[in-house]
Amino acid sequence: MVRPAPPCRAATHALLAHLRDIGFDGAPSVLASGAETETLTYIPGVAAVPPLPPELLTDAALVSVADLLRRYHVAAASFNPAGYRWPRPVPAAFRTGLVSHNDVYPANLVFRDGRAVALIDFDLAGPGSAAWDFASAARSVVPLADDADVPDSRRGRALERFRLFLDASGLPRDARRDVAEALVANHDWTYAIVTEAAAAGHQAFAEEWRAVAASARRARAWCVRYRRDLLAAASRV
Ligand SMILES: Nc1ncnc2c1ncn2[C@@H]1O[C@H](COP(=O)(O)OP(=O)(O)O)[C@@H](O)[C@H]1O
Ligand SMILES: [Mg+2]
Repeated sequence: MVRPAPPCRAATHALLAHLRDIGFDGAPSVLASGAETETLTYIPGVAAVPPLPPELLTDAALVSVADLLRRYHVAAASFNPAGYRWPRPVPAAFRTGLVSHNDVYPANLVFRDGRAVALIDFDLAGPGSAAWDFASAARSVVPLADDADVPDSRRGRALERFRLFLDASGLPRDARRDVAEALVANHDWTYAIVTEAAAAGHQAFAEEWRAVAASARRARAWCVRYRRDLLAAASRV
């Protein structure tokens, strides 16, 4: 799999080497590093791009994402990020020292037989936290969105599925609360990447923002409106 090299290649490749060395199989390994490209191991399966097939809309698929993230965070916990330059910093309130993936959404997850088996696209990985990754994943995988933007069997089940996702996260209560607290900040951090690139003249980002701006605003408003319910769901033991 040849793709453009990540923006902080030395850091990202050190992380991927660590994951390989300790036997974590839920991420690609680096096979070669070219002038502007990287060659990664190919992970068989399907990345979840819309329209999502029915087997990716199930609660079992949701729980499998939590399981994969939990295993990734265990593997990443023994990686020391010091001494590397990392991409866009995660807000200080959501940094624990753990190197999180920071871009967990369906297109960056490889599924097999309806289960998430790997994370791909570590371009934004850097010092963050498990809660930050679960917030990112919850927004898109639960999804935490206006019902008008959920055209499938997950509609109307956001809070129920958020609770299920957090139950499967294995996170302690404080970190689960951080997930709920991080949602709007995570939304803003993620879309700032798109809007800043669009403002700087990157055509692809400008088109992406045009395509998603309205639903993104509705999703943010949904998270603000249901903040108390989301916190209550996260605080339940
Ligand atoms: N290591 C990999 N194994 C399998 N498929 C991959 C791998 N890396 C990327 N892909 C495929 O390529 C698509 C885009 O790759 P990604 O690394 O997310 O790049 P970007 O989002 O920067 O375009 C993914 O959605 C997936 O279908
Ligand atoms: Mg990607």
